[in-house]
Amino acid sequence: MAGLAGKLLSQAIVITLGMLRFLFRQSPTLAFIEALALLFAITWLDLATGHQVSVVLFYTAPIAFAVWLCDNKSVFVIAGLAGVLWSWADVVLGHSYSNGSVQAWEIAIRFAFFFLVGAAAIIIRERQRASQSRIALLEHTQQLEKQIIEVSEYEQQRIGRDLHDGLCQFLAAIGCATGGLKIDLEDRGLKELATKACDIEKLLTQSVNQARDLSHGLVPVQLNEAGLPAALNELAATTSRLLPVTCTFESAGESRAGRNGKAAHLYRIAQEAIHNATKHGNAQRIDIRLSANPSATSLSISDNGVGMPKNGTATNGVGISIMRYRANLMEGELAIESPIMGGTVVSCTVPTEGD
Ligand SMILES: Nc1ncnc2c1ncn2[C@@H]1O[C@H](COP(=O)(O)OP(=O)(O)OP(=O)(O)O)[C@@H](O)[C@H]1O
Ligand SMILES: [Mg+2]
Repeated sequence: MAGLAGKLLSQAIVITLGMLRFLFRQSPTLAFIEALALLFAITWLDLATGHQVSVVLFYTAPIAFAVWLCDNKSVFVIAGLAGVLWSWADVVLGHSYSNGSVQAWEIAIRFAFFFLVGAAAIIIRERQRASQSRIALLEHTQQLEKQIIEVSEYEQQRIGRDLHDGLCQFLAAIGCATGGLKIDLEDRGLKELATKACDIEKLLTQSVNQARDLSHGLVPVQLNEAGLPAALNELAATTSRLLPVTCTFESAGESRAGRNGKAAHLYRIAQEAIHNATKHGNAQRIDIRLSANPSATSLSISDNGVGMPKNGTATNGVGISIMRYRANLMEGELAIESPIMGGTVVSCTVPTEGD
């Protein structure tokens, strides 16, 4: 019995949905004809029930129908016709008024009522459509932002891989060739030229190291099996090596973020925070901390620089917005604070549930 009721209910839902789909897909002309038919049916109902029973509210139904399915002109035509048909039914039913002015006033009020109902419903419809398109635009923008981040991530990794597998290998090969040249020159007793070759070899070794550091920054986590802590550790070491700043890294707990896409976002947040600390904060020391518990992973980057501008001076930069956006993508939170003792602390906490 219950099964049969369930089947009937689901069939009724399917039929209703089909009818609604048909209603909303039909042409405005057909919808206008249907609104007219509805209006005539209500006039007939008005005549059938007599003037003792007021059906004036029913006259608003075809107006509302026209609002959702026809254009604005059709709405006002239906509203005007509703006024005419109601007045006609009123006369046919023999409704008596004390004098002609009262009757004219009554008819004018009904006309005004129907037009106001039409206008108010149009305003509501327009507002609803405007908010629907705002939501659609917002969703589209968010989708685009996500794609831009993904594309830039992909491009950074591509350039990093090319740098690592292409330029680094070339430079290393030239370094080896220069080493061989140096030995040859020494064998032939050309000491001065051998020293020059030795200098070139040293410069090439430095270039290889710099290109490797750059490529590791561009392809941080995926190439690194040890995951986020190891990648951040390398980032700290590279920062200390390449920039006039002491950068440290410490981690507590086993970070689960290192095993999925969140690791790349956290790594990029750390990179941007380090970049800002050296570029804007003139920091001499930067501490990266990664801590994890079963429910959340927290990353903080603190520097001993000048701190965030007090007056909140606007810049054209996008670094902080992208950091926030990345935190949102991970359903996490990003905070940027300037403690009283100085410097800046950027912290990002992301939940690990559902990874
Ligand atoms: N660690 C910091 N110390 C001092 N000021 C900071 C620090 N981080 C950010 N700021 C301030 O916040 C502003 C905005 O930073 P944001 O990273 O958004 O942009 P940007 O670094 O100027 O440009 P972009 O990141 O696009 O290259 C900076 O211009 C700077 O004034
Ligand atoms: Mg920046």
